[in-house]
Amino acid sequence: MDLPKGLAGVVIADTAISSTKNDMLTYAGYPITELIANNVPYEAVVFLLWHQRLPTNAELKNFRAALFAEMELAPDFLDTLKKISKIQRHPMSLLRTSVSFLGSTESKAESNATAIQAKMLMIVAMIVRLRAGKKPLKARRKLDFAGNFVYLLTGKVPSAAENDLFNKVLLLHADHEFNASTFTARVAASTNADEYSCLTAAICALKGPLHGGANEQVYLLLDGIRSSGQTVAEYLGSRLANHEKIMGFGHRIYKHGDPRAFYLHDYAKIMAQHYDQMALFNLAEAVAAYMWQTKQLKPNVDFYAAIIYHCLGVSHDIFTPIFAVSRTAGWLAHIREQKAASYLIRPSSHYTGVYDKKVPSELQL
Ligand code: ACO
Repeated sequence: MDLPKGLAGVVIADTAISSTKNDMLTYAGYPITELIANNVPYEAVVFLLWHQRLPTNAELKNFRAALFAEMELAPDFLDTLKKISKIQRHPMSLLRTSVSFLGSTESKAESNATAIQAKMLMIVAMIVRLRAGKKPLKARRKLDFAGNFVYLLTGKVPSAAENDLFNKVLLLHADHEFNASTFTARVAASTNADEYSCLTAAICALKGPLHGGANEQVYLLLDGIRSSGQTVAEYLGSRLANHEKIMGFGHRIYKHGDPRAFYLHDYAKIMAQHYDQMALFNLAEAVAAYMWQTKQLKPNVDFYAAIIYHCLGVSHDIFTPIFAVSRTAGWLAHIREQKAASYLIRPSSHYTGVYDKKVPSELQL
């Protein structure tokens, strides 16, 4: 059977977690437009993805408390993280090794989804602090997940408006049906591997620039244009003539625009105005206009997210780890769903080599 390249359009499994039908991202029945309009907290979105229903007020309070209780890393783990950080420079490599290492230290009883969700945040925050040569910060009980995220990353307690904006950014990244990293996690889960192994696999897939790694590349692209002395048309034109992909544009599913980018565009503008980064935002707008005129390609989730993270003051190589923390919610939901479905994902290949070769007798093997 001939399948489309890269399994484009191929439906490979059932899921009740999320959908991209009609170019709208929907989490367990709730369109992102509805969740954004109602300021649904990220913790409630995590609960929604894991249970396919929104929590009651009491459940949300308990879940928030349970997440907060897990927002710490054991001293031994921190020591190891310090050692690894001297060898592995890119934060996504460090995150990948850290999650794998966490899996080898946690007992089965400790490996619950709530703990993993909280510890992913703590690992990324710790990586940021280690690189800055600073001591780790303690999570604050009064802050929600998004507020703690900003605080632990930047050392600044966010304003209510910034807290709300970052909550929405996390919400928009929480899940996206069978994207490459989630599919990778589900393949690992289908073998009945443990959660940490599945997450490590997902992080490896997210790292690539055609997937989650694109947000870091977007910043490098904008910075490259700024320092090149070229116009947007000259800079992008020569790259497109060279058949290079322009990061942050195009999408496998959304051919008429990514609904997440619609919101992130506005959030990036708010952040750029507040942090005196309108020159960067305007440059991004010029890039988006050029890509539409020349290729009819629209920005995807990673394009404006890069500007938001830059405005927060985090370095560009932390952008993809931020994405990973938010997407952990979706990965864990899909890992659970795949394990419950209880079948092995093992497709077949179309072999293009030859058969029945003979080992030459003169070879001394
Ligand atoms: N820059 C330039 N050309 C592009 C881009 C782009 N960003 N995206 C697609 N195209 C072109 C392709 O060159 C191709 O043109 P052709 O038909 O003349 O050969 C056509 O559009 C179709 O592209 P495909 O790669 O076949 O589309 P696909 O759906 O497979 O790719 C992908 C989607 C991988 C996201 C692609 O658009 C891309 O590489 N974008 C840049 C990387 C990026 O931003 N990734 C993040 C995606 S969102 C996420 O994963 C979180």
